[in-house]
Amino acid sequence: MKYYIVTYGCQMNVHESEKLSAICEKMGYCLADKREDADLIVFNTCAIREGAEDRVLGNIGALKKLKKKNPSLIIAVCGCATQKESTANFIMKTFPFVDIVIGTFNLPNFEAYVNAVKMGRQMELLKEGEIDEEHSYKRTSGENAWVNIMQGCNNFCTYCIVPYVRGREKSRQEENILREIKEIVSEKKYKKITLLGQNVNSYGKDLSTPISFAKLLSDICQIDGDFKLTFMTSHPKDLTDDVIDVMAKEDKILKEIHLPAQSGNNRILNLMNRKYTREKYLSIIKKIRERMPDARITSDFIVGFPTETDEEFLDTCSLVEEVKFDGIFAFIYSPREGTVASKMEGQIPEEIKRKRVNILLALEKKIQLEKQKNSKN
Ligand code: 5AD
Ligand code: SF4
Repeated sequence: MKYYIVTYGCQMNVHESEKLSAICEKMGYCLADKREDADLIVFNTCAIREGAEDRVLGNIGALKKLKKKNPSLIIAVCGCATQKESTANFIMKTFPFVDIVIGTFNLPNFEAYVNAVKMGRQMELLKEGEIDEEHSYKRTSGENAWVNIMQGCNNFCTYCIVPYVRGREKSRQEENILREIKEIVSEKKYKKITLLGQNVNSYGKDLSTPISFAKLLSDICQIDGDFKLTFMTSHPKDLTDDVIDVMAKEDKILKEIHLPAQSGNNRILNLMNRKYTREKYLSIIKKIRERMPDARITSDFIVGFPTETDEEFLDTCSLVEEVKFDGIFAFIYSPREGTVASKMEGQIPEEIKRKRVNILLALEKKIQLEKQKNSKN
């Protein structure tokens, strides 16, 4: 019996597929080289932008052939896209050969869903639950080990679907995180540990005895062993000085930070509900560079947010020009069902959004070339 997992989206999904792999192997499946050889195919989906969802839907259709050839093939679709009721219903209606449609809240019970299919039963979907504290992972990212420290997000940035498909912020207990990292370090296979969460800087606020993210970082650094530590993703509004201090102080922490700015214009930042200004963002960058002059800083930007004018878009360009990031991701705004921004008036036409993203990407290319040239001199 063989399994095959197709993963879409972010590092959180990559890590959750490592959890799914461990569950499949515990059930007695081994990894297939290609989906055609598998008895169990899992699609772990993403919903962050419309394009991500469309790709998933296109690829599910192609599985019909395989199911025809092998009627006992089990097909499961899980993750962020299927946590959305409308997408889950669409998949069940359009692709009746799919056996399991579950979202992120039901992932830890994946084994039970597979067993129910084998016994010809249906299983009910569970509501948002507790954070999955202890689980096995089949680690697949080479020398990097992902460690999930929290789930969900409370920020409700107006464009973002994450709070709807991953629920509210839930932190893991520190002792469980430390135990997992000690185990990883003792295996001596991994050089880097990456802490994962939608908003790592809020870590610990929801625990019965709250602890700060800086304290967690500092405690992890006390673990003996040869490893480097990094984390993602940070939110500028929650990135406190104590986190910058601990990053600067601890040799084990890599001097790199992904700090999505999303826009360089204050009116748009406000409409996005980001809760910081351009000036505040720049002051954080200044602080990071004062403490860690060689820090590698990367960012995400969204262009074509509803009502964004050409001038406001140019503020994003000028921020990128000013900070000279070590890398940026530029995204075309994609309206997501149920979010506040999707209902705003003043949606920007596709061709303008595309033009803006191309301008931003060309600027980014120019900056990277300049940086390369300067580093050679
Ligand atoms: N449209 C475009 N980009 C988005 N992101 C999140 N939601 C959307 C959306 N609706 C981007 C943000 C975030 C990154 C992971 O994806 O820039 O930081
Ligand atoms: Fe989405 Fe904003 Fe939460 Fe990031 S902080 S996951 S962009 S709502």
